[in-house]
Amino acid sequence: MTVGTALPEGGTAAAPARVRAVLSNFPSGVAVVTAVHETTPVGFACQSFTSLSLDPPMVSFAVSRASQTRPRILAAGRFCVNILAADQQWLCRRFAARDVDRFRGVGWRLSASGSPVLDGVLAWIDCTVAAEYPAGDHTIVVGHVGELARPRETEPLVFLRGRLMPGAPLALTHA
Ligand SMILES: Cc1cc2nc3c(=O)[nH]c(=O)nc-3n(C[C@H](O)[C@H](O)[C@H](O)COP(=O)(O)O)c2cc1C
Repeated sequence: MTVGTALPEGGTAAAPARVRAVLSNFPSGVAVVTAVHETTPVGFACQSFTSLSLDPPMVSFAVSRASQTRPRILAAGRFCVNILAADQQWLCRRFAARDVDRFRGVGWRLSASGSPVLDGVLAWIDCTVAAEYPAGDHTIVVGHVGELARPRETEPLVFLRGRLMPGAPLALTHA
């Protein structure tokens, strides 16, 4: 199995390429964060989504300050986190691409609060924006969770070392 190129030990100069090379060893799921801006659905592929609080239920994601979708989600004041299944890598690529109609050919419906729920996702979490915090070249967006569901029982899509892969469970082994 390829595990990437080993990096030299030490060194404190955290150049962006080095930060990415080291931090990409922490796997994440992949979500598409969606909203409706005015009357237009918007969304972007997001690996920085995380669970924050159970009671009250809160989540967060980090979005680049350069993102064109960021101000639209914040203006909407609500968003839906669509957690992608392993067979939805095309949606990840689509929602990371620039200068395309990201929703072309994508089935979706509106959640009760008015954000797009994409067809076929593993799970979705409908939220209202609770807070936003500047964090370097990103903004951390915190959401209060409203409705949520896990419509499919299948493996998630995982992002690790710059690659997409299925999040399959380990075979059970005994010590
Ligand atoms: C797997 C994957 C994960 C991503 N995660 C994030 C993220 O957490 N935050 C972010 O700002 N952009 C992330 N991106 C980049 C965005 O999806 C998108 O390319 C970028 O926001 C530009 O589009 P926009 O201007 O519409 O936002 C990710 C891209 C990929 C492929």
